[in-house]
Amino acid sequence: MQLLKLAVLLAAAALGSAENTVTFVSQDSVDRTVYFTGNPGMPAIDPVQVAGRKNVTVEFPYGWTGNFYAVSAGAPNVPGMLGEVAFNSWNGITFFDVSAIVNPADHVGVKKLYPATAAGGGAVSGCDVFPCASAYYLPDDVQTQSTAESDLICTLGGNPEDAAAGIEARDDGDQGEHAKVYAREYVLGRGSPSGL
Ligand SMILES: *[C@@H]1O[C@H](CO)[C@@H](O)[C@H](O)[C@H]1NC(C)=O
Repeated sequence: MQLLKLAVLLAAAALGSAENTVTFVSQDSVDRTVYFTGNPGMPAIDPVQVAGRKNVTVEFPYGWTGNFYAVSAGAPNVPGMLGEVAFNSWNGITFFDVSAIVNPADHVGVKKLYPATAAGGGAVSGCDVFPCASAYYLPDDVQTQSTAESDLICTLGGNPEDAAAGIEARDDGDQGEHAKVYAREYVLGRGSPSGL
């Protein structure tokens, strides 16, 4: 098992390609900094600036598990609404969700997280207007989404009026029909087959 994992890691390194990405999509004119916190042992990822109305794609190492939050320019660096990811996790699946567990008062940072293409199965976590039913509020909620895709989109900021105009076409109410949801252990990197 470990050898297989090593072989996969080496193959990924040889290809020299990004295993995983999150593209941060700013939905308003606010400049933000996104901060990343890996689980213990994960490589550090430097903070990135996401200017208003811009998209910035960040590469994640194979298997990276942790979270990120966005801080608006001029605001104190306080963890907010979290995007949580466990790339290439149990069974090779990538788990993701938007969590209000640390700071439900943040309504201006991370909004939604979903696979970059329709091949991702239409799973969405988070929403445009918090609070909502498709984000984590309690540790034992079952809201973690999964995908076989390695590229995710994370929307930042914006308001409901903007939502009418394009990218927000994905309706929060849809998501349950598309994908199986998992317990939070999976996005924290602690999922196991016995937990299913
Ligand atoms: C940013 O990404 C979104 C989602 O993929 C896309 O709809 C939009 O056109 C992109 N905007 C820019 C400025 O690249």
